Amino acid sequence: MGYLRIPPQSTNNSTKKKKSTKKQKIRVKRKIQTRDAKLFSVPTRMATAFSFAQTVLFSKTSLSLRTNALRSLTFCLPFSSSSAALASDKPHSKKWRQPVTSALELGGVKIAKDDVLRDDPTNNVPDTIFAKLGMQLHRRDQHPLGILKNAIYEYFDTNHSNKFDKFDDLCPLVSVKENFDDVLVPADHVSRSYNDTYYVDSQTVLRCHTSAHQAELLRRGHTHFLVTGDVYRRDSIDSTHYPVFHQMEGVRVFSPEDWAASGADATSYVAEDLKKCLEGLARHLFGAVEMRWVDTYFPFTNPSFELEIFFQEKWLEVLGCGVTEQEILKRSGKTNNVAWAFGLGLERLAMVLFEIPDIRLFWSTDERFTSQFLKGQLGVKFKPYSKYPPCYKDVSFWISESFTENNLCEVVREVAGDLAEEVQLIDNFTNKKGMTSHCYRIAYRSMERSLTDEEINKLQGTVRELVESKLKVVLR
Ligand code: PHE
Repeated sequence: MGYLRIPPQSTNNSTKKKKSTKKQKIRVKRKIQTRDAKLFSVPTRMATAFSFAQTVLFSKTSLSLRTNALRSLTFCLPFSSSSAALASDKPHSKKWRQPVTSALELGGVKIAKDDVLRDDPTNNVPDTIFAKLGMQLHRRDQHPLGILKNAIYEYFDTNHSNKFDKFDDLCPLVSVKENFDDVLVPADHVSRSYNDTYYVDSQTVLRCHTSAHQAELLRRGHTHFLVTGDVYRRDSIDSTHYPVFHQMEGVRVFSPEDWAASGADATSYVAEDLKKCLEGLARHLFGAVEMRWVDTYFPFTNPSFELEIFFQEKWLEVLGCGVTEQEILKRSGKTNNVAWAFGLGLERLAMVLFEIPDIRLFWSTDERFTSQFLKGQLGVKFKPYSKYPPCYKDVSFWISESFTENNLCEVVREVAGDLAEEVQLIDNFTNKKGMTSHCYRIAYRSMERSLTDEEINKLQGTVRELVESKLKVVLR
């Protein structure tokens, strides 16, 4: 869930009501630094999202950006991907792409390929990402993500007598307003940058979190709901990061009569209810585990928390949550109410529960993967069917002002697709002239077969070419 926790501009969250312990503060700071290191490797830290977007805009036409189970004919046949989106970096040059022959329908919205991959300079969606739209892994009852979603539904249905309305087919194309403004993400928040989010045009994005649907559902009068869906983020490449993943959002609205009898103030009452509810959920999924609450920051909740569980000898972050900012409720016409909200990443939990070692496996159509999971069977341990050797290739270059690691990773994904296992910075120095060199090690590995030297050399050759032409760096 990462970057939405980053407070705007400062590590000092002055809006936080609850006092953090020193340890907790350090924790938040460390996260921020990690993210900064990734997003702001050049001193653009203080730039507004818009100017930052311009800095990385070169990536738009050239590098386009980041789901699940088969549901109907249109979804059975994802659009074929190509390396087309890398065709050019000139702001107004045409992206080569396959002719549009079909459209898909998501949550009642018809989406043509041309609606998502546009020759608009503010579009950074690559074909590889478009190809994931409509896959909806979370709607497959025999897929680990679908099994997990159903287990969470079961918990809420049992403990809240079927009160929660469920949505798992809302269209992932949302407005900037829905994705950010409606949930109070500040105008200069890093998550709005073109480096982090997939923009279809300046006003439309592929949702980067399921919170994008909160305000609309509240406005429509829902008071208890769960939203599950595919979300999209530009990111690094490793075994736990993929540009498309799945989240579940939960929201519950309370009325004065709910907290009146308790004697507690509304915020404390709701925060307590939230914690009890989510601790119960964690026990439902993981059994009798040790848990702890950590204060954190989200733009849309205050106070905000993370739930961690002690599982397999490690503290594991399970979800983010908090008491909904009053402004969100006010704007939805709910002035007398108080609410809680939570958001959890399905892959993160499923990887632990099913012992799935690499996030790319969720997308596998290999029977050796898909046949291991059955409807209703949470936590069946995945048996790795083989481990093919990785092949490492290094690429070194002098970076440019606008270089970002996310843009590099997008080039690698565009060329190598799911063969790209990891991209890691292994060397970084600045010479006397002030030029900075980066060396990245790319691990190529297939989940399904051995790769040949020839094939990898070819991929690496293309990566080198495109890194130079698209990212404006100088190869060494
Ligand atoms: N939207 C948050 C994220 O993606 C998760 C969240 C949802 C946190 C609701 C608090 C409340 O990181």
